[in-house]
Amino acid sequence: MPVEEVYRRPDDYELETLGHEIGDLAFWQELLQRERPHRALEIGCGCGRLTLPLARQGAAQGFSVTGLEMEPAMLTRAQEHASAESAATQKALRLGLGDVRALDSALHRLGAADGAEVHVFDVILMPYGVAHHLTSPDDQLSAWRGARRWLRTGGLLAVDVMAPNLGRLLAGQEAQTSRRDDLEVSREGRTLRRTLATRYYAALQQETLAYEYHLSERDGTRRDYRSDFASYIYFPRELALLFRATGFTLEQMLGSYSGAPYGVHSRQLIVLGRAE
Ligand SMILES: C[S@@+](CC[C@H](N)C(=O)[O-])C[C@H]1O[C@@H](n2cnc3c(N)ncnc32)[C@H](O)[C@@H]1O
Repeated sequence: MPVEEVYRRPDDYELETLGHEIGDLAFWQELLQRERPHRALEIGCGCGRLTLPLARQGAAQGFSVTGLEMEPAMLTRAQEHASAESAATQKALRLGLGDVRALDSALHRLGAADGAEVHVFDVILMPYGVAHHLTSPDDQLSAWRGARRWLRTGGLLAVDVMAPNLGRLLAGQEAQTSRRDDLEVSREGRTLRRTLATRYYAALQQETLAYEYHLSERDGTRRDYRSDFASYIYFPRELALLFRATGFTLEQMLGSYSGAPYGVHSRQLIVLGRAE
């Protein structure tokens, strides 16, 4: 599975995420508040956008947060951010390199590295589209089965992906769409402009998002590069089956971070499953 080029460039990824209001943090905070876990795991934690505030919450409420990330550059950035946190937050936080498709080795390695005992989790999160990166049934089953093994019975797995948008997918079905401006964001003298063309491969349920990034740095230098994202498109019943086939009872299917049920106009598809 090729890594998206932008994940090798955390400066750009972090600028990019400032460019739109994601609005998912309160949703995850409330979920953890409700679940009252001892241990939570976030898969694909990136630069720690969610992980660090959740670890602060953990420090205040008495739970730990483990962030697992596949791309070393992203993990290094998360570790840099973590080093600026209070001692209590740092104590509540563990960060490690690992692939959700090989969760056992990643978590055993993490446990061995910090000398801690390896425990199962009470909550596992796959937020902000991480699961779109799992493009084959084998990858998906490995991830879901791994999550089940690492959750206590009664624990919660929460997966957040984009709802399938048929209009958008069909626009790229016969050929790649024309390229359009997609995002522009500036901060502290840096500007990121992003354009996008998409192609939907219906037989594979896979959309290729061909991003082009145009960076203008503080010193006036410019950088342009391409970052392709092969995104698996999940349909709701399919996600429900994936949960049920891997040892979960389906608990909720939500369509937004406000907690609305999944429906025809939903932008998100957030599925919560309880480990049987
Ligand atoms: C959309 S980013 C989200 C990052 C972060 N959670 C956030 O909200 O900003 C997806 C992240 O998942 C990571 N990722 C992709 N495939 C993964 C895998 N198989 N195992 C672990 N992490 C993965 C990527 O490297 C990337 O950092």
